[in-house]
Amino acid sequence: MAEFSLPANSIVKKGRIFEAPANASNTKRFKIYRYNPDDGQNPSVDTYDIDLDSCGPMVLDALIKIKNEIDPTLTFRRSCREGICGSCSMNIDGMNTLACIKAIADIKGDVKIYPLPHLSVVKDLVPDLTNFYAQYASIKPWIQTDTPPPPDRERLQSKEDREKLEGLEECILCACCSTSCPSYWWNSDRYLGPAALLAAYRWIADSRDETTGERLDELEDPFKLYRCHTIMNCTNACPKNLNPAKAIAEIKKLIVKRRN
Ligand code: SF4
Ligand code: SF4
Ligand code: FES
Repeated sequence: MAEFSLPANSIVKKGRIFEAPANASNTKRFKIYRYNPDDGQNPSVDTYDIDLDSCGPMVLDALIKIKNEIDPTLTFRRSCREGICGSCSMNIDGMNTLACIKAIADIKGDVKIYPLPHLSVVKDLVPDLTNFYAQYASIKPWIQTDTPPPPDRERLQSKEDREKLEGLEECILCACCSTSCPSYWWNSDRYLGPAALLAAYRWIADSRDETTGERLDELEDPFKLYRCHTIMNCTNACPKNLNPAKAIAEIKKLIVKRRN
């Protein structure tokens, strides 16, 4: 049987421990992945005991408290703190989700926090999303038309046609879905992944867009689309309760339909 060993510098070491103040009576332990490519050290998991009586209710509140009061070197992304911007996505308690809408009270035991899986780490909880954004750009996420717009008003859409975009246009590009997809883990250089494919279907489903044929041509590829094997991790991971697996299935159905 083949044996594999990890490179020595990839082994995650025990990190530092930051204890709660002596007078804290309601504490929770946070174990957080740390990695700084500039210091030449292995990644580690640091431990922070947080006084929940002086902390907001969400995991992001604890991260901000740690950064502000305990360890300013802790690095993570965040902006809106209400599930809108998609920047605080990370792996919390074994699931990809948004730190700002994940309640600390919902996590039993220690809170384990890692960056989104299977991406290069820029620092600590910040993954490199360059390829993810390039894939999104590749599906041309804007309306494309061949005919000129009406001279006196915008392109209109019926209420029924607008409803077809529900469940698609709410995507916040957090990448929780794509980084939970085993097919994406192994083929992210060629498989577009659930987030980009959901976005692709959002424009295919838009009654105002006039390039459905070209969009399907682009997607009809053994890797870009057909690496999806309906494992459904993406749909289970989406913190906005969207269904990328269904959108992918709809694209596949349209490709079959136009062949017949
Ligand atoms: S359904 Fe498709 S995109 Fe979603 S996790 Fe499975 S393989 Fe990945
Ligand atoms: S489909 Fe859901 S999980 Fe995927 S990027 Fe959009 S909001 Fe995030
Ligand atoms: S901070 Fe914007 S989604 Fe969490």
